[in-house]
Amino acid sequence: MITIEVRLDGGRAYPVLVGTGARHELASVIPPAATRVAVVTQRGIGVEVDPGREHRTFFLADGEEHKSLASVEALCREFAQWGMHRNDAVVAVGGGLVTDVGGFAAAVYHRGIPVVYVATTLLGQIDAAIGGKTGVNLPEGKNLVGAFWQPSAVLCDTEVLASMPPREFRSGLGELAKYHFLGGGNLDELPLDERVAACVRIKADVVASDEREGGRRAILNYGHTLGHALEIAGHYDLRHGEAVAIGLVYAAELANVLGRIDDGRVAEHRRVVAKYDLPCILPDGVDTGELIELFGRDKKAIDGVTFVLDGPDGVEPVTGVERAAIDEAFRRITR
Ligand code: GLY
Repeated sequence: MITIEVRLDGGRAYPVLVGTGARHELASVIPPAATRVAVVTQRGIGVEVDPGREHRTFFLADGEEHKSLASVEALCREFAQWGMHRNDAVVAVGGGLVTDVGGFAAAVYHRGIPVVYVATTLLGQIDAAIGGKTGVNLPEGKNLVGAFWQPSAVLCDTEVLASMPPREFRSGLGELAKYHFLGGGNLDELPLDERVAACVRIKADVVASDEREGGRRAILNYGHTLGHALEIAGHYDLRHGEAVAIGLVYAAELANVLGRIDDGRVAEHRRVVAKYDLPCILPDGVDTGELIELFGRDKKAIDGVTFVLDGPDGVEPVTGVERAAIDEAFRRITR
């Protein structure tokens, strides 16, 4: 088992356990004061856990439309009806939807109770479950309501990844490809446990330096400006990691247009994305005008469109990118 500490301000820290069978460590990482544990999951996940104390299972429905305040309210009401107290804990077992909703319910129930994540998807293990972002969507946009609420521990059981549908696993590889350019290097050469652990280490390091996304944490959104726009547009049949993969190549081309990186570095982006069998060009018939409009609506757009771009000092947020450069980069990723 590989253990990585996520270190936070004020001496706070929590462990992330990565490896085959990590879920069996659950009872030992739940805070000892918790006498009751609410296990939050979805019916299709099918990963059994044993919290080692009195527990009940609460199911979230499938589908992004259930990443909502209504789901959080329903969970909190069920916690209250069961009589959960401030020292009790939530264990969220699933992918990003479950950890975001279960984590947000834990963040607000009794003004905050402990939560442990058992991340069952590649995307969850290397991104969503690490770093304390929780939240739900509003009709007006994704992840618009939430809280920074750090878990007490995260278990990344690589054994359960074997049962993921292939397209979902491949989608996780899009997020993994991002870490190549955040200092991860040739992650594809590592065995799965070490690959996951390498990504967790990078994320833990970034989160430790900027827990509440005042600055550096934004680099974790590398590839996401276009990625999110493609997802929000909603009619391209792209999973999150597939959209991020296209977004990574776009960000590389844009950085190249702006003279921040050379052609070799762009080719490296294309090579990494292709190695994971992920797309690196825009879907046919894409409306780039619509995407540009969506860039401006990204909740990370503070000062016009902010792109996260590679450059001589590494990956960093860049503001004020001109329309001509945006268009030229689009041209380069169009079939
Ligand atoms: N998924 C980006 C972050 O956790 O900051």
